[in-house]
Amino acid sequence: MDLYEYQARDLFEKYEVPVLAGIVADTPDEVRAAAEKLGGVVVVKAQVKTGGRGKAGGVKVAKNPDEAYEAAQAILGLDIKGHIVKRVMVAAGARIAREFYFSVLLDRANRSYLSLCSVEGGMEIEQLAVEKPEALARVEVDPDRGIDAAKALEIAKAANFDDETAPKVADVFVKLFNVYKGEDATLVEVNPLVQTEDGAIIALDGKVSLDENAAFRHADHEALEDKSAADPLEAKAKEHDLNYVKLDGQVGIIGNGAGLVMSTLDVVAYAGEKHGGVKPANFLDIGGGASAAVMAAGLDVILNDPQVESVFVNVFGGITACDAVANGIVGALNTLGDEANKPLVVRLDGNNVDEGRRILAEYAHPLVTLAATMDDGADKAAELANA
Ligand SMILES: Nc1ncnc2c1ncn2[C@@H]1O[C@H](COP(=O)(O)OP(=O)(O)OP(=O)(O)O)[C@@H](O)[C@H]1O
Ligand SMILES: [Mg+2]
Repeated sequence: MDLYEYQARDLFEKYEVPVLAGIVADTPDEVRAAAEKLGGVVVVKAQVKTGGRGKAGGVKVAKNPDEAYEAAQAILGLDIKGHIVKRVMVAAGARIAREFYFSVLLDRANRSYLSLCSVEGGMEIEQLAVEKPEALARVEVDPDRGIDAAKALEIAKAANFDDETAPKVADVFVKLFNVYKGEDATLVEVNPLVQTEDGAIIALDGKVSLDENAAFRHADHEALEDKSAADPLEAKAKEHDLNYVKLDGQVGIIGNGAGLVMSTLDVVAYAGEKHGGVKPANFLDIGGGASAAVMAAGLDVILNDPQVESVFVNVFGGITACDAVANGIVGALNTLGDEANKPLVVRLDGNNVDEGRRILAEYAHPLVTLAATMDDGADKAAELANA
C-alpha cells in the first residue's frame, strides 16, 4: 500500500525524522486558514499517489495566505497523470541550500535491502540513474543488520557527501531505516532530503510503501488506506475476501489456485491474439473451497466490470471436487439471475470431473459453454469476448 506524502510525513515525525510542519486541507478556505496558522512562506502540495507533482503544477510556493488560497484553487481538481487532486498539504516553507536523495527498499531479486543515495537530489531519480549513474550510490543493506550508524556513514560516503555533512545525513538515514523496519515498509524514499541555509537536514518529501503482508502486525495501518481512491471492484472483492486484481482486458477470469490462474491469464492473452487482441480482464483466485457463495461473489465482481465481455471459469477439482464446483456455478447463476448476462466458458478437470460436467450439461444454461481443455476454453472465451 502506497501512502500519501502527508501520511509519510506523519510517520517520519513519529520516528524523529526531521520534517517541517504540514497541515492537510481539502478546500481553498482551509488552505488559507492553514497558511495563517503556519505563518510566513508556505508550500501548497498536491496529495496524489504519483510522482512528478512539481512538474505538473501541483507544488506551489505562497508568500502569504491569499497566495496560498490562489495556489489551492489552481491545484485542487488538477489532473496529475490521471489522479485528480482532492487534497493538498500546506507545508512550512524551507530555505533550501542543497537537495539530496535517499531511499531504502526491498530488493527482491537479491533477497536483500538496497539503499540508493545521491548528493544530487530534486531531479527525478529515474532520470538521474540514466543520465548520471555515477552520481547515484547503490549500497546493499544486510536485512539482519539494517542501517546502523556505521552503515549510514558508509552510504553517505558512497554518495560522496563531504566530511562535514556526512554524519548529519547519516543520522537521518538511521531514522529513516527505523521507519522502514518499524512499519514493515517495502520502500522509504525521500526526494528531496534538503540541507537548509542554516545547515539543518530535513525530509521535504516522502514516499512510503507498506507491505500489506505485514498488516496483521500493524493494526493502525488500516486507517491509512484511502478507501475512496480504491478501485470499486477491488474494494468489493476485498469485502468478500477474494484475491482479485483488476486488469485492462475483456475476458473475466475465475480459477482456483494462484498458479492455475496465472497460467490462465497467459493462455487467454495468447488466444486473444487471434481474436482481435482481447486480453484478460482480471486475476481472481477463488482458492480451494470453491463454494457456491464464493463463486457467486466472484462472478458478481467480474460481471460488474463494464469492460468484461465474456468470462472463463477454469477450475481444477482437488479437495473440492468438480461436482461441488459445478454446483457452485449453478448456485451462483441462480443467485445472480438476470445479473448473469455475459457468456461463460467453463473448463473443469480433476477430481469427479464427469459428474461436474454432467451437472452443468443438465443445467443447460443458455450462457454457459463447456470446454474440454484449458486451451479450448481460452480460445472460446476470447472469441466470445471479441464477438
Ligand atoms: N516545504 C518546502 N519548502 C520549500 N520548497 C519546497 C518544499 N516542498 C517542496 N519544495 C520544492 O519543490 C520541489 C518539489 O517538491 P516535491 O519533491 O515534494 O514534489 P515532486 O518531487 O514534484 O513530487 P514527487 O516527489 O511526487 O515527484 C522540491 O524539490 C523543492 O525544491
Ligand atoms: Mg519529490
